[in-house]
Amino acid sequence: MKLSIILGTRPEIIKLSPIIRILEKTNIDWHIIHTNQHYSENMDKIFFEELNLPKPKYNLNIGSGTHGEQTGKMLIKIEKVLLKEKPNVVIVQGDTNTVLAGALVASKLKIEVAHVEAGLRSFDKNMPEEINRVLTDHISSYLFAPTEKAKDNLLNEGIEENKIFVVGNTIVDATLQNLKIAEKNTFVREFFENITNMEDYFLLTLHRAENVDNEERLKNIIDGIIKVIDIFDKTIIFPIHPRTKKRLEEFNLLEKLKSNKKIKIIEPVGYLEFLMLEKNAELILTDSGGVQEEACILKIPCITLRDNTERPETVEVGANILVGDNKEKLINAVEIMLNKERDWENPFGDGKSGERIIKILHGNIER
Ligand code: UD1
Ligand code: UDP
Repeated sequence: MKLSIILGTRPEIIKLSPIIRILEKTNIDWHIIHTNQHYSENMDKIFFEELNLPKPKYNLNIGSGTHGEQTGKMLIKIEKVLLKEKPNVVIVQGDTNTVLAGALVASKLKIEVAHVEAGLRSFDKNMPEEINRVLTDHISSYLFAPTEKAKDNLLNEGIEENKIFVVGNTIVDATLQNLKIAEKNTFVREFFENITNMEDYFLLTLHRAENVDNEERLKNIIDGIIKVIDIFDKTIIFPIHPRTKKRLEEFNLLEKLKSNKKIKIIEPVGYLEFLMLEKNAELILTDSGGVQEEACILKIPCITLRDNTERPETVEVGANILVGDNKEKLINAVEIMLNKERDWENPFGDGKSGERIIKILHGNIER
């Protein structure tokens, strides 16, 4: 059996790392194809280093572009590699353009696609990720759904039950494995102490296209954050995604943010550093998918700056509140979440998802 793992962005590297760690211990023939959709050192290389991952066998150097341009370039280059490597299965994770391109090329070449984190739905087709998820699920042979809810979404769309495996989310594996490493790492602890000054803080991330590419929404969110600082007198630590930095500059909002002494804008940080920041935050404010999950796993209350989520489990267990770009809802949610009992159950599994996925693939392909 031969596996090609196709990845391209920060969350894919993190969420596929538990699978890669398991593959390294087997005699399965496998390799990584990196589209390089993310390429800045702190969005890419830092994760390979911190997570101790092997270098990709292929780096396709795609980089940024419009959706068509980026996906199109990926299709051309991925096809060449898959024609040469002829794997039995291609593994993709999540909902990025890399995922759609990898799955599309493989399925046309009659190579089976294994989709890790299948079945998530925001039911919002304005999100490029929703389109990528739906299309990928419908051309996959192995749908690794994190929860029963995700499985139900797939069944409701007519996907055959025998293709769906509820295995949990590999983010639990990654979080549990790396938090221990982070807490023991002197460099990470020093970073943490310097950045936080050992004071209370809220952690903020922001990068969804529908938030940051829309000037009015982005302005509403920033105004809301400034209001939160004024009312609750908290420091906010904000590792800024490159997309968001670009937009804040374009809309003349970056200086306004920077002039507020209570906001610490920093470059994106490595996974170990970010886990430490999450674990010790009083509250997490985000529009990220992975960060909603990690907050829930780490038992840190989360406020999601979106109108919907493809991770409704986090809201149902009481770990997350959706506020969109609405200032009043945000302030109300901060009040609720600051007093929240952190007594919810993590709905994303036991940290053995990677193991299950490889067992299922191995068992099926060897037969
Ligand atoms: C992509 C995914 C999104 C995912 C996110 C994870 C798609 C459609 N979007 O969004 O689902 O949540 O990754 O972070 O696949 N840039 C850099 N350096 C980099 C990468 C990007 O400077 O290494 C800047 C460029 O200006 C680029 C912009 O960020 O144009 C957006 O990058 P892109 O990969 O298109 O989308 P993301 O917003 O990163
Ligand atoms: N993350 C990180 N450093 C940061 C911000 C986020 O390591 O400065 C990690 C975070 O722990 C999570 C993942 O990046 O595992 C989430 O990626 P992102 O928010 O970019 O994408 P999404 O999950 O929304 O697709």
